[in-house]
Amino acid sequence: MFTRSAIAAILAVAPAILAAPAPAPQVTEPASFGPDVQVSYQAQSTAGPDYPLAEELGDGYTSATYHGPYTGTPTTTGAANGPTTLAASIPPLPLNPTATYYNTGGKPINPLPAPYTPAGGLGTNGTLPRYMVESDFDYESIALGLYQEWIELDLFHDGLARFSEAEFLEAGLTSEYMSLIEFMADQETGHSTLLTNMLGETAPKQCVYDYPYNTVREWLDFMQRLTRFGESGVWGYINHLDSREVGQLLAQSIATEARQQQIFRQMSGLTPMDVWFENGWPQSWSWTMLAPYISYCPENQTRLAWQNFPVLHILNNANINRYSPNDTAQDGSEVTGSRITDPSISNLTDWTQQIRTPLLPFII
Ligand SMILES: *[C@@H]1O[C@H](CO)[C@@H](O)[C@H](O)[C@H]1NC(C)=O
Ligand SMILES: *[C@@H]1O[C@H](CO)[C@@H](O)[C@H](O)[C@H]1NC(C)=O
Ligand SMILES: *[C@@H]1O[C@H](CO)[C@@H](O)[C@H](O)[C@H]1NC(C)=O
Ligand SMILES: *[C@@H]1O[C@H](CO)[C@@H](O)[C@H](O)[C@H]1NC(C)=O
Repeated sequence: MFTRSAIAAILAVAPAILAAPAPAPQVTEPASFGPDVQVSYQAQSTAGPDYPLAEELGDGYTSATYHGPYTGTPTTTGAANGPTTLAASIPPLPLNPTATYYNTGGKPINPLPAPYTPAGGLGTNGTLPRYMVESDFDYESIALGLYQEWIELDLFHDGLARFSEAEFLEAGLTSEYMSLIEFMADQETGHSTLLTNMLGETAPKQCVYDYPYNTVREWLDFMQRLTRFGESGVWGYINHLDSREVGQLLAQSIATEARQQQIFRQMSGLTPMDVWFENGWPQSWSWTMLAPYISYCPENQTRLAWQNFPVLHILNNANINRYSPNDTAQDGSEVTGSRITDPSISNLTDWTQQIRTPLLPFII
């Protein structure tokens, strides 16, 4: 097995020359298709000669052999396109003329198709469910969701492998909390498998990532932000999917992801939820948040049709590492880098302002 720095050094020259030293593929293709296939973090295939494998980095935790920027020449750029584009935009229309149902009596208006079964609903007439995407809209949306699940699979594992138990304790997290995070990391295996199978053989594969954190608290903060935009991205499109079957399974994975987000918030000392409603985002917003953390993907990777907008910076985001988050500089400077969801810095220059003592363990 090669060390991380050796892999990084090789990658810095050119990805192609990894062909010789790459270890043999271990088990399945991450994007294999079918009911019996489960993608596993420990058993990522090479999916191409330059594709790094997961390796154990200490304490029994496993992460990819390389994280960081891509320094080669990209072989492809831009969003995926269809055969043609029909118009510059979709004009707004009045209400659908059939959208008229209104119940003034408080009782069913129409005959019941069966006992205790009010008329209506979709997918309720006895046809078998088909748990596959049913349109380009579905395909591109679920492919975006899969890019999200892949980074989570890697990210949750990476902090566990990268930071020591002592560093976790310093952040107030005992080994029980590490186990809980590992369970969440393993949940991503299920989510990636599910979305892969709903797309089929061209499902996007796992990529190589470039992360913005240096400490346990920065990692937690980044995971909290990442799961948050991942969740909102799904709420934005889920009810527009052609396939209600796909929407249903997706909802059941995103409900789990929302819990992960709350747990990361609590592990950071934040209130678990701070709003009455979560917001729903268009896919291109979600992709804009995610794309900057991907450095490169396997050859022939399935690309997305969504737009990656220029970066925006949040100027008034409170720093969770301050005793008084309200005192965060209002110029966006208290984050670890220049990407939009980079976490708050946990090494303030003025140490009197910073949470330093371990947080007390809390019940979740
Ligand atoms: C059942 O409902 C679907 C839409 O959900 C519709 O396309 C299909 O024609 C219906 N089948 C029957 C037998 O009514
Ligand atoms: C990528 O696609 C090209 C053209 O379809 C094919 O020749 C090549 O083998 C593919 N490479 C991989 C790694 O799948
Ligand atoms: C937080 O900061 C804002 C803006 O500087 C200020 O208006 C507000 O009073 C502060 N709140 C507290 C509780 O310090
Ligand atoms: C905080 O940590 C980052 C990354 O390790 C480093 O670049 C930066 O200089 C540090 N800032 C301070 C104030 O120590």
